[in-house]
Amino acid sequence: MTGNAGKRTVAIVPAAGLGSRMGQDKALLDLGGMTAIERIAATCHAAGVDEVLVVRRSDAAPLPDHLDVHVVTTGDKGEMADSLRLAYLKLPREAEAVLVFPVDHALVEVDTVLALRAKLLREDCSIALPLYRGKPGHPIAMTRPVFAELDRDGTMLRDVVRRDEARVAVVPTANHWVRADLDHPEDLRSANCSLTSQPWSAVAQMFRHASIRSYESDALPKAQIERLVDAARHASTSSFIQAYSVVAVTDQAIKADCARLCAGQGHISEAPVFFAICADLHKIAVACEKNGRSLQSDNLELFLQATIDAALLGQNLQLAGEAEGLGVCMIGAARNQPIEIAQRLALPKHCFVVFGMTMGIAKEVPLPRGRMPLEGVLHWDQYDQDSIASVLQGADDGMRAWAKQINAERGGYSGRPVNETKGWSDRMARMWGGESSYAKARQVLADELKRLGFGVFG
Ligand SMILES: Cc1cc2nc3c(=O)[nH]c(=O)nc-3n(C[C@H](O)[C@H](O)[C@H](O)COP(=O)(O)O)c2cc1C
Repeated sequence: MTGNAGKRTVAIVPAAGLGSRMGQDKALLDLGGMTAIERIAATCHAAGVDEVLVVRRSDAAPLPDHLDVHVVTTGDKGEMADSLRLAYLKLPREAEAVLVFPVDHALVEVDTVLALRAKLLREDCSIALPLYRGKPGHPIAMTRPVFAELDRDGTMLRDVVRRDEARVAVVPTANHWVRADLDHPEDLRSANCSLTSQPWSAVAQMFRHASIRSYESDALPKAQIERLVDAARHASTSSFIQAYSVVAVTDQAIKADCARLCAGQGHISEAPVFFAICADLHKIAVACEKNGRSLQSDNLELFLQATIDAALLGQNLQLAGEAEGLGVCMIGAARNQPIEIAQRLALPKHCFVVFGMTMGIAKEVPLPRGRMPLEGVLHWDQYDQDSIASVLQGADDGMRAWAKQINAERGGYSGRPVNETKGWSDRMARMWGGESSYAKARQVLADELKRLGFGVFG
């Protein structure tokens, strides 16, 4: 292998641990059809790293044959510091720089490694590390003399990095794998979730959507939740107000209370996470206060902006979760008792849950519901009022066909047979026409929103 012009660099992969929390050898973890070590080797080679040196236990399983790496073996316990010290002893004489690349960070991309190498080459620094959300991560590039400091007994990598801030350069990156660890089986699942989303088409996923109301008990790693919400909040936002907040509820007791406050829907307790998607004017209220003004919390336009922003974020979050192979269901029942749920989630004034969302690994394959005929939604140039009869007919037929199919194939919905004679129009009339108990239950909402700081409706 010949490297790019620059310092001759050797990547050192400490992979001598037992992976006991993971329950398997981390170097051989399957990440989207490639082992972790294969990914690291491929990334290093693509970034022009000259050699990859892997530290393995002497009794570890062999690495895949075709790998272009050098293996040094150790009888040590697999501590990173011991592996690095051994690597130092085996470092080729001509190596001028070292890239410490733990297997946990196998999903770090080539551009990060290239940027780290470039920093070390061009800048007046001897250590370069990636920074995600202001926090340092891996891999860490350093010059040979800096790496030599590890040779002293008891010196850890972090001691070397912290010794002198002036010699450290950072590479900010949006790739959270520079920080995330692969410690537990759920970390591996989350990693593979993010990999499955790569050859992903947003449009195809939208067609595939179906709400999921039954979940496996597996937790979603915090890093995955952060990644999904972070992605979701890049939705467009009215005048950049970002008038939303998300409370990710993973605490079982709080989740159970949310379930109770959302019409007792069991899938809220069952899902590993329940998101409360909030319209949030609190931050704007404080910003106004800071500037000696008070928030116009009774302004309908502002109320709509906050609610629309929250909905856009929510839809993005659903799509992001689905893109990573997760199941999702939105929960409008979060508006059943808006004051109680706001209290339980410690929401500030001017903040309410527009809707909730369950997310987790699906335990069911629901029958997609389809939608009404497109002519009822998409109009060309002007609204076509003449199509209404055929649109309603199509919507009714579609709903009856779904009821028939779900009764025949699944024995009904949620364990109960669905009425095959009722169409979409019947359902809408029952919900929103005349003296509907459904509509009546929500009549108090305006008053409740007022108490939460949104005095929009008088
Ligand atoms: C804002 C909103 C609130 C919803 N609230 C609930 C809810 O409280 N409980 C539930 O089981 N499904 C809820 N849903 C899911 C809808 O019932 C579902 O999207 C609809 O029936 C169409 O089915 P599909 O999503 O499987 O295509 C909600 C959907 C939206 C958009």
